[in-house]
Amino acid sequence: MMFRFAVGTKMESKVALRPETCQSIFLAFTKLFAAMRSKLPMGIAQVGRSFRNEISPRQGLIRLRELVQAETEIFFDPDKLEEYDKYRELPDVKMHFYLVDGRTLTLTSQEAVEQGVVQNSLISYYLALFMQFYTLLGINEDNIRFRELLDEERPFYAASAWDLEILTSFGWLEVVANHYRTAYDLTVHSRGSGHDLSVFVDGQKVRPWVWEDSMGVDRTLLAVMDAAYTREGKRVYLQIKPQLAPVVVAVFPLVDKDGLTEKAREVYEYLRYDHDAVFEAKDSIGRRYYRVDEIGVPFAVTIDYQTLEDNTVTLRDRDHRDQIRLPIPDLKAWLRNKTTF
Ligand code: GLY
Repeated sequence: MMFRFAVGTKMESKVALRPETCQSIFLAFTKLFAAMRSKLPMGIAQVGRSFRNEISPRQGLIRLRELVQAETEIFFDPDKLEEYDKYRELPDVKMHFYLVDGRTLTLTSQEAVEQGVVQNSLISYYLALFMQFYTLLGINEDNIRFRELLDEERPFYAASAWDLEILTSFGWLEVVANHYRTAYDLTVHSRGSGHDLSVFVDGQKVRPWVWEDSMGVDRTLLAVMDAAYTREGKRVYLQIKPQLAPVVVAVFPLVDKDGLTEKAREVYEYLRYDHDAVFEAKDSIGRRYYRVDEIGVPFAVTIDYQTLEDNTVTLRDRDHRDQIRLPIPDLKAWLRNKTTF
């Protein structure tokens, strides 16, 4: 799956493009550990590009040769797992587990450990965080499941693995690969480099184990957009959360005359340094609403004749299409409040 490549004036050095971002975390492990005050557990996260020699890249963002990963590597001492306070109180989150034997169980993170569905509370803790994260992005919790990987599907470095899958309009899609990498990587790099990647914790030599959450950023984006795509009769709009919307507010004059356009432009200039905004004056107001609904703009501010009298505007909500009236000076704080998680 790796891309072979060559560098140098005569292309004399054979290299390969990285197939996963995490290896640089493993290689730098002892330095990162020192920088993080030599304590376990320790989590290191990294976002970056990876490259895979896909034979048939297709299906838009699903199968890419160049992809963006956000990976988290959690290093811990397997003999001290019971002593880590962090994993004692598990988030009270329900998750659907799709097991290798074909059963689907709905369990809280605590129940998943108690019933032996996941190996330990550290794993359940991180699966629960990802569950919370994806529901926060607007994915319905019933459309998220953790699929246990069969022996033959599991990568060679993983003792166990769970894929976070999201039900999209084109089926279940793997979005985060979660792997129990144990000491595999630090052991193999130690052997290959001749530098022992063990560390000392409280005077004891440890080669930590690793739990990994490997998020596909492109697929996440696709899943979020797919979930947001909404069709109600003839109306089509992107019901993306205001916190995620690329454009937060549209500013329109009700009609393109009588000084409303100038006033609307003024409001747009006022807002656009704090919020991603668009301005449109042409076409009927209905068509303009429709266009911004389609690209998921959650709020539309309209300047009408009353604005010229009392400096208030209407603010229309994309999803419910209801309108409230607000003074222009209140708009920034109102929008900030709606776009903060
Ligand atoms: N680092 C694991 C993966 O890329 O799937």
